Amino acid sequence: MDCVMGIDVGTSGVKVLIVSGDGSVVASSGAEYPLLSPRPGWAEQDPNVWWEATVQAIRECIAAAGKASAVGKVDVLAVGLTGQMHGSVFLDSRGDVLRNAILWCDGRTEKQCEEIADTVGGSRLIDLTLNRALPGFTAPKIVWLSENDPETYAATRKVLLPKDYIRYRLTGSYATDVSDASGTLLFDVASRRWSDEMLEALGISRAWLPECFESPEVVAHVTAAASSATGLAVGIPVVAGAGDQAAGAVGNSIVSQGQASCVLGTSGVLFWSCDAPAYDRQARLHSFCHAVPGKWHLMGVTLAAGGSLRWFRDALCESEKQRAKAEGIDEYELITALAEQIEPGCEGLVFLPYLSGERTPYSDPKARGAFIGLSLRHTKAHMARAVLEGVALSLCDCTELAQEVGVHTSRVYASGGGARSGLWRSILADCLDVEVVRVGADEGPAYGAAILASVGVKMFNHVEDACRQFVKDTGSVVQPCAERAAVYRGLHSLYRPLYGALRDFCDRGAEFVGSNS
Ligand code: XUL
Repeated sequence: MDCVMGIDVGTSGVKVLIVSGDGSVVASSGAEYPLLSPRPGWAEQDPNVWWEATVQAIRECIAAAGKASAVGKVDVLAVGLTGQMHGSVFLDSRGDVLRNAILWCDGRTEKQCEEIADTVGGSRLIDLTLNRALPGFTAPKIVWLSENDPETYAATRKVLLPKDYIRYRLTGSYATDVSDASGTLLFDVASRRWSDEMLEALGISRAWLPECFESPEVVAHVTAAASSATGLAVGIPVVAGAGDQAAGAVGNSIVSQGQASCVLGTSGVLFWSCDAPAYDRQARLHSFCHAVPGKWHLMGVTLAAGGSLRWFRDALCESEKQRAKAEGIDEYELITALAEQIEPGCEGLVFLPYLSGERTPYSDPKARGAFIGLSLRHTKAHMARAVLEGVALSLCDCTELAQEVGVHTSRVYASGGGARSGLWRSILADCLDVEVVRVGADEGPAYGAAILASVGVKMFNHVEDACRQFVKDTGSVVQPCAERAAVYRGLHSLYRPLYGALRDFCDRGAEFVGSNS
């Protein structure tokens, strides 16, 4: 049976899928690895550990696919890679890893972001890259290394993104793709090539960066050494692949103007496919190349979406946790059942979901969460609903920015753990005033990477054609309700100024953190 493989080098682990030519998942496997935090706010991983986990997961996936196939084996025709974006892998002249990779969720580079904006000029930076300097992005990490670990910086000869390190181990080639390169802040997103002006301004050698390709292009082939480690045949083509958000969108067939998705995971990501580069003058939304040649995408991120609900569960729902355990049911089902008892608007209670700071629209690591409007009337059930509504209102901020730059949609495809909740999908539909369609088969970015691989080896001519063949299964649809949408419009106008009103408090509140320890 002819198949393709998708590999997702994620933050908590690697996921491998083998998908047949008709789009069905033949086998999947995964292996986890730890997130290292040597100091508060830092996030690192050892790229060699990614590789070991990937080798194990590929072997298991090939074995499982063999068992699932009538003839005892499958032919993997091509491999597509995806993974966590923005992370930096520093390699020396022999291609050896010099230090742990610094990840997308690492917050150490606030100072370097300011320096980059000062050096290049805030507005020129947006002209060149369509984005602003955020601590998660790659360029500030390189600048941080030069200032804080000059020895490693001096020994550096290549800087790779996470999935591209796995490509290097699979093929011996240094390469990346336009969607992942977009999150480095070294990329001219509008022209889909590295920005010489950015590289020069930051004193970064062009030779440090890999060649950049469109996502479905075949860029290299599996080496003999990687073949004996993984069980993949020598010479299998590996396509450029994509960052996890673009690959996830391909996996959900979000590939044309007017199509949008919302992934409700730990963070909440709204993603709009665009036929031309779109950005707002303050670059509050991310503006990246799409994994579809000749297309771009806008993206807004609420950092604590599912993360807010998980915090609420752990901080305030011990009794629900115990009941769920005793009855063998899902804890979140009990919490959303509580929320369901409450009317939209929570009788004037609003939750700000900035528990991990916020990316869109504020790009402020010091922003903090809050319940505002608490009264004696309010119960835990009100607070549960306010958490669901607060996340949706924050996503509403992202939608408003997209509308300001002319990007509209009437339907959003929802996936991720949070999208399992019918109530949350319905609150989202009402807050954004769009139809929300639950994604049927939620295989995540690895599925999109497999689609890109299928285009690379000409099973299809275009990514859009492959999506039509692969992505068929859509789940239940929630329509917005005009009455509730009006309530949420009113609530959003109350919600919007709260960040500004609390900003001074959040800045100074940090002084009290750890003061008793
Ligand atoms: C995208 C982003 C995350 C990471 C980790 O900008 O930061 O999606 O790629 O998943």
